[in-house]
Amino acid sequence: MPGNRFNAFSDLGIGLGLRSVHIDHILERKPDVNWFEIISENYMVDGGRPQVVLDRILEQYRVVQHGVGLYVGSAQGVDRDHLRRLKRLVAHTRTPWVTDHLCWGSVDGTFSHDLLPLPYTPEAVARAVENIRIVKGELAVPFSVENVSSYAEYRDSTMTEWEFLTEVAEQADCGILLDVNNIYVSALNHGFDPLTYVDYVPPERVTQIHIAGHSRYRRFVIDTHDHPVIDPVWKLYARAIERVGPTPTLLEWDARIPPFEEVHAEALKAVRYWDHTRGRLSHAG
Ligand SMILES: [Fe+2]
Repeated sequence: MPGNRFNAFSDLGIGLGLRSVHIDHILERKPDVNWFEIISENYMVDGGRPQVVLDRILEQYRVVQHGVGLYVGSAQGVDRDHLRRLKRLVAHTRTPWVTDHLCWGSVDGTFSHDLLPLPYTPEAVARAVENIRIVKGELAVPFSVENVSSYAEYRDSTMTEWEFLTEVAEQADCGILLDVNNIYVSALNHGFDPLTYVDYVPPERVTQIHIAGHSRYRRFVIDTHDHPVIDPVWKLYARAIERVGPTPTLLEWDARIPPFEEVHAEALKAVRYWDHTRGRLSHAG
């Protein structure tokens, strides 16, 4: 198993997304959870209930920040004010690392509030690398980019998505948050083999993994985060763990959210793949 120089927290285990419907349960019952992932933008506000809740969670749990608003693929650069507020939150939560998506989502001050895919070209690589270097220079913790799910492709692309992601991470010298559900969704939508993707990504750069459920429609598969993880996605996860080794993993469940225990139990299924990989390694050793 390769050493992972980007991730000093590889033993952090399985985490859960902090969702408002579960807050009362968590504060009252104090369930045994290794860490909670928060959406940074939900807490980049001064005061109010979100801040109060976050502070109570921080008293008992490690929190990892995941963002949806940096748009590191933007041709217009990173919003410096957004980055300053993000930096303040990082100091407050003491998150061990920060993640956001390799995408764009706004132009001329108009925000789509979507995580839009980029054209896979050297020009887009250069722009993303420039933006990520600015983010890295500002934040005092490691930064990783996540692959998004997509429903459209650009005719201008000159490389595959996995080549693009790898090129950006290598040139920017940052980590990768590998979302295996996003890979599966995009593979079905665009007709590529998801294992080729997982097998290509440099394992030493993968700092975290996302798993999730999705919805299948007639023409497209949509990344809805409203179901348990399906078997083909667990298979991709197993392959990723085989290559990368046990890696902090988070289950995303954002709509039609069931009771806390159900989400927690689904997330903990990931552990069996860790055990399998560890068992294989100890036999080999
Ligand atoms: Fe994700």
